[in-house]
Amino acid sequence: MTAPRTPAAIFDLTGQVALVTGASEGLGWAMAQTLAAAGAYVVITGRRLPLLQAKLEQLQAWGMSGEAMAFDAADAGATKAAIAALASRHGRLDIVVSNTAAGVRKAFLEMDEAEWQSVIDGSLTAGWRLARETAPIMAGAGYGRIILISSINATLARPGISAYVTAKTALHGLVRALAVELAPVGVTVNALAPGYFLTNGNVALRTAKPDFHDKIAARTPAARWGDPQELGAAALYLASRASSFTTGSVITVDGGLTATI
Ligand SMILES: NC(=O)c1ccc[n+]([C@@H]2O[C@H](COP(=O)([O-])OP(=O)(O)OC[C@H]3O[C@@H](n4cnc5c(N)ncnc54)[C@H](OP(=O)(O)O)[C@@H]3O)[C@@H](O)[C@H]2O)c1
Repeated sequence: MTAPRTPAAIFDLTGQVALVTGASEGLGWAMAQTLAAAGAYVVITGRRLPLLQAKLEQLQAWGMSGEAMAFDAADAGATKAAIAALASRHGRLDIVVSNTAAGVRKAFLEMDEAEWQSVIDGSLTAGWRLARETAPIMAGAGYGRIILISSINATLARPGISAYVTAKTALHGLVRALAVELAPVGVTVNALAPGYFLTNGNVALRTAKPDFHDKIAARTPAARWGDPQELGAAALYLASRASSFTTGSVITVDGGLTATI
């Protein structure tokens, strides 16, 4: 009988290449740190190169490895070119975290079609495209982990974010559909649905509505907002061999918010 593998071995990502989009700040940066700390070579992406370079220097100062790549995840040509460059540079891509989203805060009756489309493109099609470009590399290797970052807004709507709610809900359908097609070639596809985490992504909302922070904390059974680092461990589970039999799933990380009334 062989001894059970240690958690350190199960979650070890040494030798693997991970790509995290939207990783210069917020949840993407937190997940990138966790994957890098587990041994992965992490490609951090975003649109602002100086910010990415500063974050890469931080990772390297911690003794972790990776690279910074600037491209707009909502741009089809730029995404295609970036993935092709990564594939030729590294010859592998084991983990992909699609973390970018686009938002237009407007009442349904005030939103025009171009605004709707920009949210669908930035929050749904960008994830589909990233999976479309990277799955062949993973399928060729017979191993891969695709993680799409959704939101509890896929389950709970608020006024003013109809396109975002729709896009995030559709990501859950995409996860199931891709999981079914890619499981036979060794690629798992899952989503993380974060609740409310303190990031720059919601600073505008918290500034515009000063009571929003406390309202969310009061509504959350854990009685607080999430720390971005708290999403990292969930991402590590989905990114590692530990999740070998988990595919087509959505893991909610929300301090119990969607479990309560
Ligand atoms: N924070 C929350 O409470 C929360 C809750 C539920 C779901 N989420 C989801 O979690 C994800 C991250 O949210 P966050 O709050 O961490 O956001 P954030 O703090 O605003 O950070 C967004 C990151 O993505 C990059 N980015 C944005 N659009 C991009 C694009 N088109 N192409 C490439 N990079 C792009 C940004 O850098 P550049 O601006 O330089 O590109 C930045 O690094 C989103 O999908 C969001 O919907 C967040």
